[in-house]
Amino acid sequence: MTTLTPVLTRFWDEPQSWTLETYLRYDGYQALGTAFETEPADLVEQVKSSGLRGRGGAGFPTGLKWSFLPKPDGGPRYLVVNADESEPGTCKDIPLMMAAPHLLVEGAIITSFAIGCNHAFIYLRGEVVHVYRRLMNAVQEAYDAGHLGKNIHGTGFDLDVTVHAGAGAYECGEETALLDSLEGRRGQPRLKPPFPAVEGLYARPTVVNNVESIASVPSIVGNGADWFAGMGTEKSQGFGIFSLSGHVTRPGQYEAPLGITLRELVDMAGGIREGHQLKFWTPGGSSTPIFTDEHWDVPLDFESVAAAGSMLGTRALQIFDETVSVVHAVARWTDFYAHESCGKCTPCREGTFWLKQIMTRLEEGQGTQDDVDKLLDICDNILGRAFCALGDGATSPVTSAIQYFREEFELGMHTPWWEAYPPERSALFPVANKETVSA
Ligand code: NAI
Repeated sequence: MTTLTPVLTRFWDEPQSWTLETYLRYDGYQALGTAFETEPADLVEQVKSSGLRGRGGAGFPTGLKWSFLPKPDGGPRYLVVNADESEPGTCKDIPLMMAAPHLLVEGAIITSFAIGCNHAFIYLRGEVVHVYRRLMNAVQEAYDAGHLGKNIHGTGFDLDVTVHAGAGAYECGEETALLDSLEGRRGQPRLKPPFPAVEGLYARPTVVNNVESIASVPSIVGNGADWFAGMGTEKSQGFGIFSLSGHVTRPGQYEAPLGITLRELVDMAGGIREGHQLKFWTPGGSSTPIFTDEHWDVPLDFESVAAAGSMLGTRALQIFDETVSVVHAVARWTDFYAHESCGKCTPCREGTFWLKQIMTRLEEGQGTQDDVDKLLDICDNILGRAFCALGDGATSPVTSAIQYFREEFELGMHTPWWEAYPPERSALFPVANKETVSA
């Protein structure tokens, strides 16, 4: 039986967990002292050998990304923390920044020292003004304590941290769109390569890492790479925050080693709500193909989830019981992607628009004979052809839901979802009637 591994979450229940005072009681900023006594190149090696992989969804090895930075040429290089968490179902970085912002600040200082950066940015999702305030407060506390600024603790190392709130576009979580937005332009993705490590913010070498990745760094430096690598699986090491939402008794964040299963997590969350059964779920947010009750025991690590046909993604487990119409749920996600498509490339801009049209028809019981195949055809024309991952992500829920629940989509040719799934049965999507649906 796997147990929880509270590291990042270890003091979230403390009153005022976000203050420097609380953080210091939980060994806050001790790893920073250790880092300053270590050669920057050795810190990069340490993170590499810990096996930490990007916690923003893609799982790219963090230390390896740092090592891609070209040799210093006297010009600036940057750390940009991607705090634009917006993936439907994903709710780990925002709680982390609310409960423990100093974990992120300390991680950003250690990372900056390791990669030789003197200006780090935290790019925050625009809507979360409360998180902005909390981060600003933590950054100020760090300046006041001498952890930021000039000649930090007499090391000769200078670092400034800027917290920047975006304007609330999902696309700005894509790292190059984020960089464009940070530079003051419209947030649209750039062609890669060059990757940001070579040419990023202001065309300078830049490391872009997710909040949870950076917040994990102090624990690696403080406890050692072997400690971290000793958790999780052979290729997916360490722990991660799993966010359980939907039809479980106790939704929330559960920090556990990678490789834990849905069955174990749902047990910890008090089970599926009483009297109901699991129907489908996402392992890593809406951009990852859905799973069903066949997948209770898939180890939630990068390799096992991929082998079972999905992606670990952001470990956002959205759990739906038998009362939920899969067509209705997928249609909500499709709306989201059509709304958030940045419009730069044709397959995504046009494709998500058409997916939305057809999903709406099927939801309302007005689908045509060939709508299901048309959905698959459109997905086929988006997948691998869009400029960034948004387009691919939009196809995942559609194709996987058709794979497992094709008959529900076919029902959409004549029966609206609210007749197949009367509202009193759906606690998650309490849409009362057709008028509300159309509105
Ligand atoms: P990606 O696999 O293209 O890149 C991942 C990271 O590795 C990037 O930082 C990239 O610069 C770096 N990288 C990859 N190859 C490299 C190379 N050869 N040289 C240097 N650096 C290299 O994935 P992407 O598009 O950055 O992210 C997609 C993922 O984002 C999805 O899997 C999804 O799970 C996740 N996602 C997360 C969201 C959230 O709210 N946290 C929202 C939407 C998607």
